[in-house]
Amino acid sequence: MAGIVTVQRHLVESQSLHAEASGELTALLWDLSLAFKVISRAVNQAGLLDVLGKDGDTNASGDTVMKLDRYAQDVIFEAMDHGGHLCCMASEEEDELIAIPDKYPKGKYVLSFDPLDGSSNIDVNVSVGTIFSIHRRVTEHGTPGQDADALQRGHDIVAAGYVIYGSSTMLVYSTGDGVHGFTLDPSVGEFLLSHEDIRIPERGKIYSVNEGNTPWWDDRTRRYVEHIKSIEQGPYKTRYIGSMIADVHRTLLYGGIFLYPKTYKNGDTEGSCKLRLLYEAAPMGYIVEQAGGIAHTGEEKLLDIVPTELHQRCSVVLGSPADVNEYLSFYRGER
Ligand code: AHG
Ligand code: MN
Ligand code: MN
Repeated sequence: MAGIVTVQRHLVESQSLHAEASGELTALLWDLSLAFKVISRAVNQAGLLDVLGKDGDTNASGDTVMKLDRYAQDVIFEAMDHGGHLCCMASEEEDELIAIPDKYPKGKYVLSFDPLDGSSNIDVNVSVGTIFSIHRRVTEHGTPGQDADALQRGHDIVAAGYVIYGSSTMLVYSTGDGVHGFTLDPSVGEFLLSHEDIRIPERGKIYSVNEGNTPWWDDRTRRYVEHIKSIEQGPYKTRYIGSMIADVHRTLLYGGIFLYPKTYKNGDTEGSCKLRLLYEAAPMGYIVEQAGGIAHTGEEKLLDIVPTELHQRCSVVLGSPADVNEYLSFYRGER
């Protein structure tokens, strides 16, 4: 047993490195990990739930069959609404800030999350995931949380991570002391430390972008992608799953670059972005930077952005430092 480190043990041991820690963040992350196990079970049964629920919209155990992103949303809300750690939550699936019910105490943290990222992939058995980040509240303690509590920079994250429901279920998180990965052992129902102190390679050989958008990119992005595909460069391999969680997880472990640049469609001169700052870009950017990588928008460091709206979107360039810097040299017109 001595060599086995559960996520709970890891949380407690990392907390003991911080004398000022009250243990609340540890308790909060522990509650969250229970929600992840419940979602993991549902994702693994995705096809079956439909079969079992065919007549009358309920499955064999009586649960209502619903879209998995709605289900994941409800599981996280119900796991986190009563613990007394949160003052509010914000989710990709809800238009407004999510209040903690009146009957429960209001805590000092705020949780932002994408309950199921890549959910359009679920019907074809491709990896999906959950992304989360936690900030310390900025409004008065003991009162209900407000938008200002969620609208904070990536730099001010106190913990963030993601769970990937893939060939196995993995939890990857950081509380500012590096990035650590745990694999769910379904036989014992625990996340066990499998990837300690993940460091992203200095440079990779893979690029990950929806290349079908090429006609709508800016010229500099087009030139960069042409460059990494050139014979002189190697060329780089393309890998694009279409689940940010899975594309960034691979980028973290193998190195390379993940891009979702602005698209300029039908005379749109401002350009539009796809990925959401609070639920996707900032938490994944935080993890990548904690692992020694860079997260940028092309214009500014991703973690520097002060959000003004809950569902704000931004362009995303993240990955190995040498690769992101090379992109930026093209984007800034230096090459
Ligand atoms: P979600 O399933 O939470 O709506 O997110 C989908 C996102 C992200 O996971 C992925 O990187 C991106 O959409 C893919 O977009 P394209 O299909 O435009 O490439
Ligand atoms: Mn998403
Ligand atoms: Mn989603």
